[in-house]
Amino acid sequence: MLRIGTVTLENHLVLAPMAGITNLPFRTLARRLGAGLVTTEMVSAMGLTMGHPRTRSYLRSWSDEKPLAVQLFGAGPRSMAEAARIAVEAGADIIDINMGCPVRKVAKTGAGAALLDHPERVAEIVTAVRLACTVPLTAKIRAGWAPERPTGLEIARVIADCEADAVTVHPRFATQRYTGRADWRLIGAGKGAARIPVMGNGDVFRAEDALRMRAETGCDGVMIGRSAVGNPWIFRQVLDLEAGREPGEPTLSERRAHILEHYRLLARAVGEQRAPYMMRGLLLAYTKGLPYSSRFRGRITSIKDFDTLTELMDDYFETLEGEGEP
Ligand SMILES: Cc1cc2nc3c(=O)[nH]c(=O)nc-3n(C[C@H](O)[C@H](O)[C@H](O)COP(=O)(O)O)c2cc1C
Repeated sequence: MLRIGTVTLENHLVLAPMAGITNLPFRTLARRLGAGLVTTEMVSAMGLTMGHPRTRSYLRSWSDEKPLAVQLFGAGPRSMAEAARIAVEAGADIIDINMGCPVRKVAKTGAGAALLDHPERVAEIVTAVRLACTVPLTAKIRAGWAPERPTGLEIARVIADCEADAVTVHPRFATQRYTGRADWRLIGAGKGAARIPVMGNGDVFRAEDALRMRAETGCDGVMIGRSAVGNPWIFRQVLDLEAGREPGEPTLSERRAHILEHYRLLARAVGEQRAPYMMRGLLLAYTKGLPYSSRFRGRITSIKDFDTLTELMDDYFETLEGEGEP
């Protein structure tokens, strides 16, 4: 169990925000499989305040994914505060501020990881959003912009001083993007510096890693990103391991049912037209490392609707079943 301000989570596992990935169906499935909290992809504060319909659509939510954290990015305290108000009105249970995005398009506006070089601006933004929003407030940071300027701890302290309820530490520099290893020592140090709940993030690839991260850093929560893509069962596996149970791999029939359910939810969220295209990348992730996956992958473009997906899946999973469980 983890408390973030007034919100009590079922457990300490959090689905990381991932642009282009953590949409409504993905989040719903992660919640069902054990994530205690799910996060939207980053949403432009400017886009929300200007009323862009596409930006606004990122706030859509279903009741069974709750509680939901909406992550906002922006550089202006006023627009961030206004965007937070809009997100809360749309149903956000927690507002998270992005201070880690290294992408040029975002950083050149002063948002995302560019904030790590400007503690005074961080204080203004967190204070403004804190005043504007009635729900708990968190922020997600990196170790700093570059190794020459390791400002992460200072920023964590500023975030806590401005009365945020928790902070997520992804201990890589923005210049590293996702390369090298996350230096978990900074997660533990962040906890000492901030004195608010700290979520550790970075390089939890297997269930064991989540337990190790908690033991090594003392973090209150564990946020998981890339490994949940293709293996959303990782949340359940962590919970199993913590309860002293063997972390179960999904059976073939469970995997098949999950993929079909993912398609159904996508079709519900974005319509039958777009769902087959959005499903392609997911199928690559879901079948990574499985036997005969290259033949299956070669046929992915033939998926036009639920029936063609089911047909392809039946064919592939029959072959797999002939092989026994992987
Ligand atoms: C495709 C992709 C998109 C991402 N989008 C976001 C984002 O919108 N906001 C954010 O704070 N972090 C974003 N991240 C970073 C992740 O939230 C996370 O910090 C990072 O992947 C490290 O965690 P992991 O090792 O568990 O993947 C993204 C990462 C990936 C791979």
